[in-house]
Amino acid sequence: MDVLNRKLPLIGIPFSDLSSIIQAGVLAPSADNQHCFELRAEGDGLLLFGTEAYLATPYHKKVLSLISFGAVVENMGIRAARLGYHADVLWYPDASRPALIAELRLGRSDPNQTALDGAISARHTNRSVIFRGPALADVDLANFRQLAKGIDGVTLHFFDNPKQRAELLHLIRIAEAERFNTQAMHADIFSAVRFDVGWHASAEVGLPPAALAVEPGARWAFTQLRHWSVMNRLRKIGFHHALALRAAYLPCRLAPHLGVLTTRLPIERGAPAVGRALERIWLEAETLGLAFQPFAGSALLSLAQYREVPAETAEALRRGWTNLTDETPLMVFRLGRAERPVIRTGRQRADSFLRN
Ligand SMILES: Cc1cc2nc3c(=O)[nH]c(=O)nc-3n(C[C@H](O)[C@H](O)[C@H](O)COP(=O)(O)O)c2cc1C
Repeated sequence: MDVLNRKLPLIGIPFSDLSSIIQAGVLAPSADNQHCFELRAEGDGLLLFGTEAYLATPYHKKVLSLISFGAVVENMGIRAARLGYHADVLWYPDASRPALIAELRLGRSDPNQTALDGAISARHTNRSVIFRGPALADVDLANFRQLAKGIDGVTLHFFDNPKQRAELLHLIRIAEAERFNTQAMHADIFSAVRFDVGWHASAEVGLPPAALAVEPGARWAFTQLRHWSVMNRLRKIGFHHALALRAAYLPCRLAPHLGVLTTRLPIERGAPAVGRALERIWLEAETLGLAFQPFAGSALLSLAQYREVPAETAEALRRGWTNLTDETPLMVFRLGRAERPVIRTGRQRADSFLRN
């Protein structure tokens, strides 16, 4: 019996099933590889809580966490189905407990083996600069849209026609430049990078530099950019625009497909719903052997509650988004073909996510 099993209380579901479901949840993506949830086995299923860090974090980071919680729940639901359970999910089941985000009630059903379950451990973020074609057939794009349609309140758009694509690329570029141009956002970017592990190792928490696809010749310079004193001088001569080109604009411009997940729900409900859709299409991309990278910036910086964003940038983003969608955009991604990265992020052991 492993550590995880010893920590789980007896709730009428075999330990091995419960620990497999929890492990699937832990493998879900999170912004900057920083999971901030805890799970408790209770009743006939699992409760998902936001950690103290989640409760204390500013609004825009809560939105990112909620998207990630949606992905965690999606993975757990897919794994549960494979093991012969249907998972009913209640979001915010108890208004008097703000840390309690979701409850998964597990009931017996016939096992449902899906390809998506097999992709849970292989799914990863691919940050190669170039995603090659060929472009997907319309039927494949329709299949992705269909997967997202299964989740209430979420729409998946592919903005691949030249006019919409140009508009979206413009928003991606504005947002990425601002992230390097504003001290608080610059701190957010670099505080997540685990320079301490070097350029050849993974990390269980945070972003190992090796997963960032920085060219060997640019690594020293990239390391210097983490100092605001350096970035502050460079941004005054416009260097943040060059960084935006390399970090987001070019990779997106060169990718055969750009997708956006939007929601018509209020953000507290829409963010986890978008997270579920994000994970579903990301797993589907993995089963098709496609490379996938999310870009949260252009959507996130347009949120009115994100106070660190200079007003003119937030305004420009909001104006641009209204040309593309009537709904609230929450995630942009690129999709194509590329080599798999040699080094990926790791995860902490699943038992460290259990709340007593
Ligand atoms: C809400 C959310 C926002 C993310 N935003 C970005 C992003 O803007 N750029 C990026 O390269 N990766 C982004 N990611 C990917 C995460 O960095 C990645 O999932 C995490 O480091 C774990 O690595 P993995 O996806 O390889 O398992 C995001 C993921 C989530 C869930």
